[in-house]
Amino acid sequence: MKLAPSILACDFGRLSEEIAAVERGGADWIHVDVMDGHFVPNLTFGPLVARAARRTTRLPLDVHLMIEAPDRYLEAFAEAGADVLTVHQEACPHLHRTLQRIHELGVKAGVALNPATPLESVSEVLRLTDLLLIMSVNPGFGGQVYIPQSTDKVRRARALLDAADSGAELEVDGGVDAKNAAELEAAGATVLVAGSAVYGHPSGPKGGVEAIRAALAGP
Ligand code: DX5
Ligand code: ZN
Repeated sequence: MKLAPSILACDFGRLSEEIAAVERGGADWIHVDVMDGHFVPNLTFGPLVARAARRTTRLPLDVHLMIEAPDRYLEAFAEAGADVLTVHQEACPHLHRTLQRIHELGVKAGVALNPATPLESVSEVLRLTDLLLIMSVNPGFGGQVYIPQSTDKVRRARALLDAADSGAELEVDGGVDAKNAAELEAAGATVLVAGSAVYGHPSGPKGGVEAIRAALAGP
């Protein structure tokens, strides 16, 4: 299981220390939440902050684009050092072309699905999908409550990927913590994103990553 702390919940005035802390805790990826105030109500940051994160760590940067018309910014985020670029199915009328474009930029391509979006909406593009992201909250804010039906969606996503013989990562994002990590592992997730459970942990972000790891069965 890969753990991908989201810097959305970190102290941006201490970005490099906050990333170093989760690295010490055993984080596998750094999750970077980009919001545009249109696709989601909230605004965060653009490629400049992704680049700043890139400069402070060697861990893969997992960039989650919660933005309308993401094609306009793929190149900028690739240049900023993204290793995975995930777009929302709901924001991409020409999803097949968008995923091809991400690959042309030399980056892994992810597709995210909002809680209301059915898994079938990506069945035609699985061959172009390196990562399938199941949103377990409605995107836009950290610290929301996990939607319980998401576990079953992850289970069905696992079956869909396996039936297609896809080796794509299966990522879950939103309200993930040490309490639901094991059930998501059992459902077939391979990457867990966590923001507030990591950066809001009483013993700090290193302890936050360790607590989720300890809740998992396997390595
Ligand atoms: C939600 C973001 C998530 C968020 C997760 O819109 O995509 O990555 O930061 O935060 P928590 O773990 O606090 O739900
Ligand atoms: Zn995210």
